[in-house]
Amino acid sequence: MDKFVIEGGARLEGTVRISGAKNAALPAMAAALLTREAVHLENVPRVRDIITMGKLLAHMQAHVETPVVPPTNVTIQAEEISHAEAPYEMVKTMRASVLTLGPLVGRFGYAKVSLPGGCAIGARPIDLHIKALEKMGAQISTEHGYVEARTERLRGAHIVFEKITVTGTENILMAAALADGMTTLENAAREPEVTDLAELLNKMGAHIEGAGTSTIRIRGVSRLHGATHSIIPDRIEAGTFLAAGAITRGEVLVVNCRPDHLTAVTEKLAEIGVSIRAEGRDGLRVRGPATLKGADLTTEEYPGFATDMQAQYMALATQAEGTSLITETIFENRFMHASEMVRMGANISVEGRQAVVRGPSPLSGANVIASDLRASASLVLAGLVATGETVVDRVYHIDRGYESIEEKLSALGARIKRTR
Ligand code: UD1
Repeated sequence: MDKFVIEGGARLEGTVRISGAKNAALPAMAAALLTREAVHLENVPRVRDIITMGKLLAHMQAHVETPVVPPTNVTIQAEEISHAEAPYEMVKTMRASVLTLGPLVGRFGYAKVSLPGGCAIGARPIDLHIKALEKMGAQISTEHGYVEARTERLRGAHIVFEKITVTGTENILMAAALADGMTTLENAAREPEVTDLAELLNKMGAHIEGAGTSTIRIRGVSRLHGATHSIIPDRIEAGTFLAAGAITRGEVLVVNCRPDHLTAVTEKLAEIGVSIRAEGRDGLRVRGPATLKGADLTTEEYPGFATDMQAQYMALATQAEGTSLITETIFENRFMHASEMVRMGANISVEGRQAVVRGPSPLSGANVIASDLRASASLVLAGLVATGETVVDRVYHIDRGYESIEEKLSALGARIKRTR
């Protein structure tokens, strides 16, 4: 299993280019199941989850093509599908496989998708996806660990999500695109990844209005066609590099990002004393100050501070003066990085959904284990400022969502190596 060996203490300097957003590319790939024609996606990140989604679509007999040049394009053509099934072996490695449920039922009136089950950051059920599809007329059974959905054709419905769910909103958006009549989604997720998906679907011939707000209206059509779409930049990767510049007291220009998607992060970084300024249309320059001052943080749905940036913020908080109270409202059990940071010398106490970080604490390199994608990123950040060597184990988590993170960090002057 790959590991990262990091020799801490280097100040990061230079320019880093942000890749396409994994969480926008995954639903876009699933959306290709909605049409017989080819869907061409550009700015797709080269990360493990994208490969897994490609394998899942290929397993369904869709044609998936990823040219070597340019390596960020993917073309998917689901002319015919041999089996509308997402098997357990794939869903267990990537929960986002559940994104095939909506498009499969929408187009073929049948889907069988393994239940994702528990995962490291909490229970993460899909009951809201299922309830919404039932409301649209699908007959759903859950047996032997699989959800099976059947219908002649889905019909439009008025759906009020009890809780905001990102992939739930995306699944129903895709299902409703081919449903009979009008679907209204209330309390829908407002994440930029949802808006990006709606944009792609509209290019494919769907009629979707209101994406990016809590109420989305979808007028179903009888068929969708192929399209070409460029995926938005990854706001979490951008946020992670802003944090890397700040924590190493460096100066980093983050380019090919969408500053308007990063407002909650840049405001929080400014609050703790980090200087951030826009540069050009798609750049943010971060300068780490000599002293950071702690500030409280609560994760929220977009446009609030993303839960996917909480662990990276915690790494910064360990280096900030004073107390930072971090409250995680989206997922239970998402503080597993805290105990690893404590092993590196951080002062963090966790109680339920709250963590109290007292800083600044000098960190010292240690062997740490990453428990999920964003936790791994936070341990890399901690390793960048720790004295001596930090070994981050189970790097496969980070490879699921960050494209060549060690190469991008090395180019900025970090001393980081991948070993086996
Ligand atoms: C997506 C992102 C993930 C991010 C998360 C929250 C993708 C592929 N993943 O995950 O990176 O951390 O949004 O921003 O885009 N819930 C239910 N029932 C459901 C669905 C969700 O109770 O049917 C709960 C979840 O347990 C969680 C909350 O709702 O507590 C939000 O989850 P959700 O927005 O669905 O997360 P994902 O879409 O899985």
